[in-house]
Amino acid sequence: MKSVWLDTYEVPSTATDEFVPGAHYDTVVAGAGLTGLTTAVLLARAGQRVAVLEARSVGAVTTGNTTAKLSLLQGATLSQIRRHQSDEVLRAYVEGNREGMSWLVRHLEERGVPFQRRSAYTYATTSRGTSQLRKELEAARAADLHVSWTGDTGLPYEVAGAITLPDQVQFHPMEVLGSLVAELRERGGTLVEGVRINGAGFRSPLTVQTSAGSVEADRLVLATGTPVLDRGGYFAKLSPNRSYALTYRVPGAPESIPEGMYISADSPTRTLRTVPLDGEELLLVGGNDHVVGRSPSPQAAVDDLEEWTQRHFPGAERTHAWAAQDYQSVNLVPFIGTLPRGGGNIYLATGYNKWGMSNAVAAAIALSAEILGGSVPWAATLGRRVTTPSDVLTSLRFNAGVGVNAPKDWLKAELQELPGEAPGEGQGTVGRRTGRPVAASTVDGRTCRVSGVCTHLGGVLRWNDAERSWDCPLHGSRFAADGALLEGPAVKDLPRVDG
Ligand SMILES: Cc1cc2nc3c(=O)[nH]c(=O)nc-3n(C[C@H](O)[C@H](O)[C@H](O)COP(=O)(O)OP(=O)(O)OC[C@H]3O[C@@H](n4cnc5c(N)ncnc54)[C@H](O)[C@@H]3O)c2cc1C
Ligand code: FES
Repeated sequence: MKSVWLDTYEVPSTATDEFVPGAHYDTVVAGAGLTGLTTAVLLARAGQRVAVLEARSVGAVTTGNTTAKLSLLQGATLSQIRRHQSDEVLRAYVEGNREGMSWLVRHLEERGVPFQRRSAYTYATTSRGTSQLRKELEAARAADLHVSWTGDTGLPYEVAGAITLPDQVQFHPMEVLGSLVAELRERGGTLVEGVRINGAGFRSPLTVQTSAGSVEADRLVLATGTPVLDRGGYFAKLSPNRSYALTYRVPGAPESIPEGMYISADSPTRTLRTVPLDGEELLLVGGNDHVVGRSPSPQAAVDDLEEWTQRHFPGAERTHAWAAQDYQSVNLVPFIGTLPRGGGNIYLATGYNKWGMSNAVAAAIALSAEILGGSVPWAATLGRRVTTPSDVLTSLRFNAGVGVNAPKDWLKAELQELPGEAPGEGQGTVGRRTGRPVAASTVDGRTCRVSGVCTHLGGVLRWNDAERSWDCPLHGSRFAADGALLEGPAVKDLPRVDG
């Protein structure tokens, strides 16, 4: 499964460098998604010697697989934050997102990267969803955001209500990353792909250990989605949520597809936008999210989106289908700041809850200011947010999932012996072999046997029948059929098992 973005844009290979063991940098940034590249550009603009070390390739994980709506109307996020936090924190969240959005739009304008201005809509199809919209409208007003009620969405199906904010933005996220890479290189920054950070010292200068050797840095920024290194236990404070996106060529487009950017307040989530590509306009449909590794059949989620699209856009012809995950913090406010036990020199940013196009840039602004000795008032307010009793309950709910799934999966893997015969094409199974869980799968005619135990903290892996990967139901690490690490808090591949 490859996203329309990764399939239609490639960062030039001349934009990347060789890894130099022993080199010293002012700041090393782990991760070349939107957070890492924006942070690196801001530091390079201030004259820092910056290196971005990327475990896979630019945009390979969430940013290259997003739906890329840059919007201050974010579904029902504001009312959900308001349930947990004061209006001061809510306003700081909106101010940070507004600043992130303005910075990114300015960057795109200056560098001539195409983007489209669109109205954003949150719509409801039930009375429960409509009452959520009312709360969202109130929260938006409390945050000085001019969201209004509308009876005209342009959607080809009936809705019970909708709210809208004009003049938001959509773009091709890989073109945006490509432009950030270009600016980073013009300002003397380094970008290395295929190098994974797997450890760091405690005192400055930090020794940063990677899959290719060590480098030194005064500061380290973990822009890795969920933070690696495990200090501070952020993996236990975040819910990794995976969802699906499909693009279509629709008969009669562009007139037959709605022009705005939409997301439903009701469950299952539906998200829609247009994708201008090579002179035609595609329709993007997304949704059906679930906690990573806890859906019995991710393929069923894809099939359900396909069926929904055919019902509302008859004759639509699918061009791409893909999936991605993002991380939700207990109170929906991102974690941005220093990592505990990092001597004040290791920074992180995560928990954007699928609204990272503005939150990632906001985080980059806050982190770069802190590294350069300044401060940003809205970021300070977000950093002081309190943990409420309902946050504690949400955290318990996140971890209850872990508590239930870990022993159940271990027991199942211990009791069931791994079958001798290879799994069928596209299938995977976990069973006991020489006393340990082993995961066997067959993909494109090749059978692989790897350890069935996640290299992060020992979760037993589950087969993802849509993406043909091994997914961990505890904190969201994912591995390819041959054991190569794809994403999540783990830093090591799954060991191969002979025979
Ligand atoms: C399906 C979906 C739809 C979304 N739609 C929207 C939307 O419409 N609007 C919106 O605002 N937001 C949206 N989001 C959210 C947004 O895409 C993300 O919040 C954002 O892309 C996160 O960017 P990032 O740079 O923090 O993470 P990533 O893009 O995941 O970048 C992290 C990088 O770190 C690298 N890495 C990981 N570990 C290491 C290591 N140990 N060493 C070195 N590198 C490492 C990874 O390979 C990766 O490239 C969506 C998210 C999903 C899942
Ligand atoms: S991701 Fe934590 S145990 Fe697998």
